[in-house]
Amino acid sequence: MKSMIFAANWKLHKTPTESRQYLEDFFSLVKESDRKSFVFFPPAANWFVFADSNTRPAVLSWGAQNIFFEKTGAFTGENSADVLKAMGGTHCLIGHSERRRFFNEPSEWLIKKTQIAQSLGLMPLLCVGETIEERRAGQMEAILKEQLLSVVDQIPVGSPLWVAYEPVWAIGTGQVATPEQANEAHEFIRSLLDEKWGNSLARKIPLLYGGSVKSENAASLAAQSEIDGFLVGGASLKAQDFAAIFRESSKHF
Ligand code: PGA
Repeated sequence: MKSMIFAANWKLHKTPTESRQYLEDFFSLVKESDRKSFVFFPPAANWFVFADSNTRPAVLSWGAQNIFFEKTGAFTGENSADVLKAMGGTHCLIGHSERRRFFNEPSEWLIKKTQIAQSLGLMPLLCVGETIEERRAGQMEAILKEQLLSVVDQIPVGSPLWVAYEPVWAIGTGQVATPEQANEAHEFIRSLLDEKWGNSLARKIPLLYGGSVKSENAASLAAQSEIDGFLVGGASLKAQDFAAIFRESSKHF
């Protein structure tokens, strides 16, 4: 029996009113004992909706799509990990491919962001994944290794970490990785972690798959041995769709 994690990346979607409505729908669809499997990543302007205990029973985890690597200072437009923590957030995406691509985030930043998250007791969810050009050129493993180890080598062995494999070519494209492709990449990531941290610590790190996950493909992906959860963008935007992903995946745990 495996337990799975269902993470919703809302990206730049939803007003506070829409977020509240979503949570109401979600609570009517997912029973309380199952809600601990979920983590929501709303846009920062909606954190306060999740921080409000009237709309969010304590069991529902949430976090930031991005944090800056300094807690305070002259960094216009950035999100503070300190504020996230103070508001009850528990997780943070690090190095999502859209951050790497549109905001040119270099690995030195991702290292510092992971470190500050860990220092505050926030769980970093490091995102790695190759582009279609890199996959075609046979560079998938080299890219995953570089993106993963550039961070893992700079944090203490066994420190809190989740990893998401998100092939860039599958994000928002409707072109999901096959269960075999996803599992193969996860196996490779696990083997890298195993080499660095040893088998028992490596096995404890949840490896999430992301990229066009929806209810139609969730069951076959969830059946794979190395897939411990999903990071879902588009199909997490409607509570009904996200709950359906959970329902389909539950057939495997
Ligand atoms: P998608 O996005 O599910 O819309 O492909 C996933 C992500 O970017 O985290």
